[in-house]
Amino acid sequence: MNVLVAGGAGYIGAHAVRVLLRAGHRPVVIDNLFRGHRAAIPPEVPFYQADLLDREAITTILRQEAIDCVMHFAALAYVGESMENPLRYYVNNTAGTIRLLEAMTEAGTARMVFSSTCATYGEPAQVPITEETPQHPINPYGRSKLFVEQILQDCVRAYGHFGVVSLRYFNVAGCAEDGSCGEDHTPETHLIPRLLLAVLGRIEAVTIFGTDYPTPDGTCVRDYIHVDDLCEAHVLAMEACRPGQFRAYNLGIGRGYSVLEVVEAVRQVTGRDVPIRIGPRRPGDAAILFADAGKIQRELGWKPKFTAIEPIVETAWHWFRANPAGYPKNTSS
Ligand code: UFG
Repeated sequence: MNVLVAGGAGYIGAHAVRVLLRAGHRPVVIDNLFRGHRAAIPPEVPFYQADLLDREAITTILRQEAIDCVMHFAALAYVGESMENPLRYYVNNTAGTIRLLEAMTEAGTARMVFSSTCATYGEPAQVPITEETPQHPINPYGRSKLFVEQILQDCVRAYGHFGVVSLRYFNVAGCAEDGSCGEDHTPETHLIPRLLLAVLGRIEAVTIFGTDYPTPDGTCVRDYIHVDDLCEAHVLAMEACRPGQFRAYNLGIGRGYSVLEVVEAVRQVTGRDVPIRIGPRRPGDAAILFADAGKIQRELGWKPKFTAIEPIVETAWHWFRANPAGYPKNTSS
């Protein structure tokens, strides 16, 4: 299939491009390069620097490239930033998707795989989180994604030809096993990259955000899923996308690791000391989040290759050791 990878220069989008190529599909990338990296896109893949808010440009690309499906990764994804600047999140994530949907309607593109998030669940009363867990986001980032899920359901109902699969990600981690692409965020806020950057001496120490949570060791528990397993699920979702259907699936490995367990995994994988310090809780962090990802396994036959934290950390270590300064910087274009 011809697949438009919106946000294909970002961390997850760039991995998806490679998974699509391996699966015999034809990815086409659009990215505004606000946080994405030109160098993350393989040279043979068509690339358009465009913003989702530019409906005319997107419509033209969808038509020219005869796109069958859009994988929509293009979003801002920092919870803290969304609290400080909610409008930016609603414009970029919510309004941007509305423009993209208008372009898809004009061009007659019928399928979308949407990057949703466990942040749409907020602080659930129970874990594991299933797709039936009520969605009550607690920050603008989560709301910007939940609004899109609701808009997508309206579109599926209204336009009979339209089909959507929404994938609710837990903590995406790791890098391509062959080292061909990786993770390079500015600022870097995620736990595993920060621990590896600390091991490499690029940041001084990682603060552990709270040791007084009601968890076995007092630190937060999260469900870490390898980025390539997540991207494989996108391919299955795209193939399962049907007109008139909206489906949602959780994507995690169904197992939680505490922050201190992740620190220990990094110590074991790297064989080096991990400089950490204990700090207060980070506002907005739930104590325990992990997925019941049984639905996508049963319905689409998805099976993660990585089912433990150490091999996930190993793939990230491979990338960070080889690319401590990240991707080459974008040249102006
Ligand atoms: N953590 C630290 N120190 C750090 C960074 C993180 O202790 O320097 C802890 C956090 O408090 C959290 C865990 O490590 O308990 C994981 O934190 P990340 O920032 O790596 O990931 P989050 O769980 O905060 O974020 C993820 C996604 C978001 C999504 C969110 C939903 O990256 O996009 O889950 O809760 F919104």
